[in-house]
Formats: sequence, C-alpha cells, structure tokens
Amino acid sequence: PTIQWFPGHMAKARREVSEKLKFVDIVFELIDARLPLSSRNPMLDQIVQQKSRLILLNKSDLADPNQTNLWVNYFREAGHHVLALTAKDDKSVKQIVPASKKVLAEKIARDQEKGIKPRAIRAMVLGIPNVGKSTLLNHLAGKKIASTGNRPGVTKGQQWLRFGTQLELLDTPGILWPKFEDPEVGQRLALTGAIKDDLLHLDDLALYELEVFTRFYPEQLKERYKLTDENLTLELPELLLLIAEKRGFKDDYERASEMLILELRQGRLGRYTLDRFEELSE
Ligand code: G4P
Repeated sequence: PTIQWFPGHMAKARREVSEKLKFVDIVFELIDARLPLSSRNPMLDQIVQQKSRLILLNKSDLADPNQTNLWVNYFREAGHHVLALTAKDDKSVKQIVPASKKVLAEKIARDQEKGIKPRAIRAMVLGIPNVGKSTLLNHLAGKKIASTGNRPGVTKGQQWLRFGTQLELLDTPGILWPKFEDPEVGQRLALTGAIKDDLLHLDDLALYELEVFTRFYPEQLKERYKLTDENLTLELPELLLLIAEKRGFKDDYERASEMLILELRQGRLGRYTLDRFEELSE
C-alpha cells in the first residue's frame, strides 16, 4: 500500500509515535538491509531521543551479506545495538528477545537491585512503509494480526501482543516517512518497491538497476540473462535492449524495464545492496 505523506500527516505520525513511546521500554527500528541509510526516517533520532533502541536490518535474506556485515559494524561502532534480521523467518526473529535484554541490561539490573519484580519487556516496532513491520509483528506474535491499524491516522484501542513471557509489543507499529526529498534515495526506495513514485520512470529505474548490477553484481546479471563479459561493456541503454531481445520483446524498452524491475523485486537476480558502505567515505 502506498501512503501519501503531507506535512499534516507527518506531524500526526510523529505525534502518534511520540505518544506510544511513553508506554515502551525499547524501540525496534526496522530498516531495510538493502538500504541501511535510505530506508531510515530522517527525524527518527529526534523522535526517539533517549529511548532505548534496537536497530533491525530487515530483509537481510535479500541483501548482499558482505555489505550487511559492514553495515552491522558501522551501526555498532556508532554506539547502536543492531541485528541483521529476516522478519519472515521465526528462527531469525527469536534473536530479538536476547538482543533486547542486552540493550536493557542496565535497567534490568537496576530494577533487580531495587527489588522490582522482573516483567516483560515492552516494545514497539517503528519504520517506514513496506520495511516489514507487520511481518515482524505477525512472526513475533506467532499469528496473523489484522493490519487495519497499519496506517497513519487510523487509531484504534492500543493492545499488547505477547511474545512468550518476556516480550510485549504494541500491536500497531509506528509508521514514519522515508527520506524522499533526496532523488537518489527516492530512486533506491522505488527500485526495491518501498515506494511507488509516479515521478520516476521505469526505464530510469531499470538503467539504474543495470548500473548497480554491472558494477557490483556482474556474475548475477550474466547468469540471469545469459550475458557474456563483452555484453557487459555495452552502454546501459544498449544492454537493456539486448536483454529485451533475448527475452523476445525486441525494441520494447518499456516492457524490458518492467521485467528487469519485477525480477529484481522477486529476488531473481540474487542478493544485492543499493546503499553501499563504501559510499560513506566518499
Ligand atoms: P510494513 O508493515 O512495514 O508496511 O511491511 P510488511 O510487513 O507488509 O512487508 C512488506 C513486504 O516485505 C511484504 O511482501 C513482506 O512479505 C516482505 N518482507 C517483510 N520482511 C521480509 C524479510 O525479512 N524478507 C523478505 N524476503 N521479505 C520480507 P509483499 O510482497 O508485499 O507481501 P507478501 O506477498 O510477502 O505477503
């Protein structure tokens, strides 16, 4: 689902998140492992402030594992607690409780000293649309949760979902907007399907996809479209036309673009990361 963000919506979303923060011990900030910078909300630090946080690099099953390792270290070195996650996978999701306990270790120890009886950790999930918030809630709760509340502005009674005896989650995740003011970020978000931006043309997205894959994942591209090393030296528009021809829709730029983007989103081109760790030092 696409959400149109207007200044009023942003203010409201922000207010709703701030309200909910009061009830929780910890925030699970979900970001897309393929876009560890682009898929973060630009105001999140300001909104979350001192509240304990666990950063979850979700969809790590789709991301380039080498890049994910680099990003995990990057966030750790910046002083964050972070996990690479696959919200669809129960085994992966099980790491969250022990990781949360680590984040809250001091508080838990303090409570214990004061003789306060241990209780479940209270958490909320926070992230931009499509990053996997509902998927995570469903897998934590071990059941399908109605997602009627999964939109900014739709309010309903707050409920806690229990995950074992150790974790309780607010049943409605906090939804915040991505950094779409930066065109390159917009392009990356659009390519993964995180946002539907009518201003971006499919052929631009497909050429961007080819740029990334010829540069960083040439073997994956060659294998998928039966290309040679020489093919990869073509100008990108020529390469797009060659792929179109191989797929039997010669000269149909539009259809070739659509196919390339769809196949990328379906994971047919293998794992990839668009926000490159190397870019940080550039
Ligand atoms: P949201 O609540 O944050 O808006 O996101 P949601 O959970 O609806 O997830 C958006 C899409 O991302 C869904 O795919 C979901 O299955 C997929 N997804 C979430 N987490 C992961 C993950 O760790 N790995 C992978 N590979 N995919 C993940 P969809 O195509 O929109 O729906 P569906 O066909 O999977 O149901």
